[in-house]
Amino acid sequence: MPFKAVFGSVVIGSALIVAAFVLNARRPGIGNPSIGGAFLAGQPSASFVRATGKCAECHRQETAAVVHQYEMSVHAAKGVSCLDCHQAVEGQTEMAHSGFLIAGQLTAANCKSCHTTEYEQYLRSRHAAPAWAAVSGSQDFTVEQIAFSERFHPGWVDRPANALALLEGQSAITKGCIECHDIGKPNLDGSIGSCTACHARHIASVRLARRPETCGQCHMGPDHAQLEIYHESKHGVLYNDLKYFMNLSADPKQLTTRDMSVPTCATCHMSGLDGLKVTHDTTERLSYWLFADISDKRPAFERGQAEMKEVCLKCHAQTPIDTFYREAEQVVSDTNEKVRIAAEIIQGLRDEGLLTPEPFDEPIEFVYFDLWHYYGRTAKHGAFMGGADFVQWHGNYELLLKTTELKKMAEEIRAKHEGR
Ligand code: HEC
Ligand code: HEC
Ligand code: HEC
Ligand code: HEC
Ligand code: HEC
Ligand code: HEC
Ligand code: HEC
Ligand code: HEC
Repeated sequence: MPFKAVFGSVVIGSALIVAAFVLNARRPGIGNPSIGGAFLAGQPSASFVRATGKCAECHRQETAAVVHQYEMSVHAAKGVSCLDCHQAVEGQTEMAHSGFLIAGQLTAANCKSCHTTEYEQYLRSRHAAPAWAAVSGSQDFTVEQIAFSERFHPGWVDRPANALALLEGQSAITKGCIECHDIGKPNLDGSIGSCTACHARHIASVRLARRPETCGQCHMGPDHAQLEIYHESKHGVLYNDLKYFMNLSADPKQLTTRDMSVPTCATCHMSGLDGLKVTHDTTERLSYWLFADISDKRPAFERGQAEMKEVCLKCHAQTPIDTFYREAEQVVSDTNEKVRIAAEIIQGLRDEGLLTPEPFDEPIEFVYFDLWHYYGRTAKHGAFMGGADFVQWHGNYELLLKTTELKKMAEEIRAKHEGR
């Protein structure tokens, strides 16, 4: 055989082998045999190839981005297949799809089958039923769901639909309130919520969930300016400097201050930093109801405050943290006093029959609402999360201004009534 022909066939042969490797590497990965039953030890089972291979093969043409993101995920690395998530679980309807049966809609129930602990922690938090009830009231929940959630948040689920939302109408609720409050949506299959608000569908990473912008999808704006406050705090400024050097993908069970030397929202409210307990119950580490007009202490005040301080103490000394809390708590009690004065003016007008009983039909009611709902909250949130500008110019200054306006309006209402 001439040398050229031998050389040619060696080149072609090698190219084919390389191509086979490349193609194989681009298939969804294979991993831990203990998951999802999609495996035979070590080797991909027929059902795995059928489930992931076929979905991926076709969807690489149809929705390439989905497959690409899935391939980058921990799920792909650990061998969780498309069908492991997309199969119907109890209570869900199945639909025929290109030779497979897949669930019509996925909810937290699909994630729960492998992540029960996270689901149960989440279920106790205000991200679950209370978040939905804040807009729609208790009507969409079962008696059992209401009873369960009322144990953790008495009065916050068994309540009527929000009056302001009703006045604004259904399209405003659907594309406004619910886009954020569906974090606690009751699903047809009996589960609550969707885990993808913080993890996304196919990337499903802790990296994404640890980014402040992820929480900031909902936690922003004048009524809960947590993202803006964070970005002006020393923590936020350092995060922006160091984010590319931090290990945002670190395993939650082994997260250390070496991985993240600056806290993000997740670090303070959820992470198990340096051996602390990681939690999906974002309520656990809180001590006040800061979102309320008058902020009382929560029933688990002591524990909530102790658990949050433990996080601070992984990076700070005790004395500055105690001082920080003392000063923030002073802002809470002073803000409560300022809101109380305004509330009494409104109550006075109501008692004298100078306001209608309906909410949000008189200008002075909006001034009062802005006073506590924007400025009161902002001052309190700013004080607890390091936002001086929010305590002052978006907080206390506005509180003073709105109180002055409110007093003037109340005087005018009385004058008009008395025919002065
Ligand atoms: C032979 C091709 C093919 C195969 C195999 C396939 N799909 Fe699809 N799939 C499609 C097409 C086409 C669509 C529609 C895309 C569109 O509407 O633009 C689709 C849509 C979907 C949707 C969206 C459905 C909806 O209406 O909201 C999901 C979810 C889905 N596929 C999951 C899967 C899963 C999981 C598998 C494997 C178990 C799979 N697909 C296998 C072709 C395929
Ligand atoms: C970790 C779980 C999980 C895995 C693994 C997974 N998906 Fe999905 N996928 C979801 C969720 C959740 C949704 C949103 C479904 C919904 O709203 O009903 C979704 C939606 C989709 C959609 C609709 C996208 C759209 O925006 O219209 C397609 C198509 C899809 N998946 C295909 C796939 C394919 C193909 C694979 C494997 C390569 C896969 N999924 C793996 C959880 C997963
Ligand atoms: C079939 C089982 C299964 C299902 C269903 C499943 N997961 Fe997972 N998930 C896993 C496994 C296994 C891991 C890897 C855990 C480990 O290595 O400790 C994982 C890891 C994760 C991680 C950590 C990723 C990281 O960056 O470290 C997140 C977040 C996650 N899953 C979210 C979800 C969400 C959201 C859903 C539903 C849309 C879901 N999972 C559905 C099995 C599953
Ligand atoms: C899809 C929107 C959405 C995302 C994303 C979101 N949240 Fe929330 N969060 C809410 C809503 C709505 C509430 C208010 C629930 C209530 O009190 O009715 C809330 C409440 C909270 C509370 C107060 C809980 C309590 O007991 O008062 C904390 C703390 C919190 N979220 C932290 C986070 C963190 C940290 C992240 C990101 C890792 C995050 N949230 C992502 C919508 C969201
Ligand atoms: C941009 C996302 C977003 C939108 C839109 C939104 N909210 Fe919220 N809402 C939140 C977050 C985040 C909180 C938590 C604030 C906190 O704890 O400081 C919250 C808190 C609340 C609370 C106080 C907590 C409780 O359980 O009582 C009520 C009530 C509420 N929202 C009702 C509504 C209504 C009604 C609408 C629409 C008219 C709406 N929200 C629109 C994100 C949103
Ligand atoms: C409010 C945002 C948020 C929501 C909603 C959320 N997660 Fe997470 N999740 C996180 C954060 C943040 C982390 C990483 C915590 C840390 O920093 O260590 C995480 C970590 C995880 C992990 C990795 C845990 C581990 O120990 O390896 C899994 C699995 C997970 N989430 C599943 C879920 C499931 C299932 C749901 C729905 C019931 C859900 N998540 C809802 C924010 C969220
Ligand atoms: C350095 C730690 C830290 C960081 C970072 C942080 N928070 Fe907080 N957060 C706190 C503390 C402390 C409180 C007040 C706790 C209390 O009530 O005792 C709080 C309160 C809250 C509340 C108010 C709950 C209520 O009662 O109304 C929400 C919501 C919240 N944080 C969300 C976020 C979000 C979203 C981010 C990121 C954009 C964030 N936090 C960043 C420490 C932090
Ligand atoms: C993961 C580590 C970490 C955690 C957790 C943490 N911090 Fe910080 N904090 C820092 C770093 C780093 C700085 C910036 C220090 C510097 O200027 O170099 C900082 C700065 C601050 C500052 C500004 C100090 C100054 O003099 O400018 C305050 C106040 C603060 N932190 C309070 C808190 C509180 C309160 C908590 C808990 C609710 C907390 N921190 C949790 C790392 C952390």
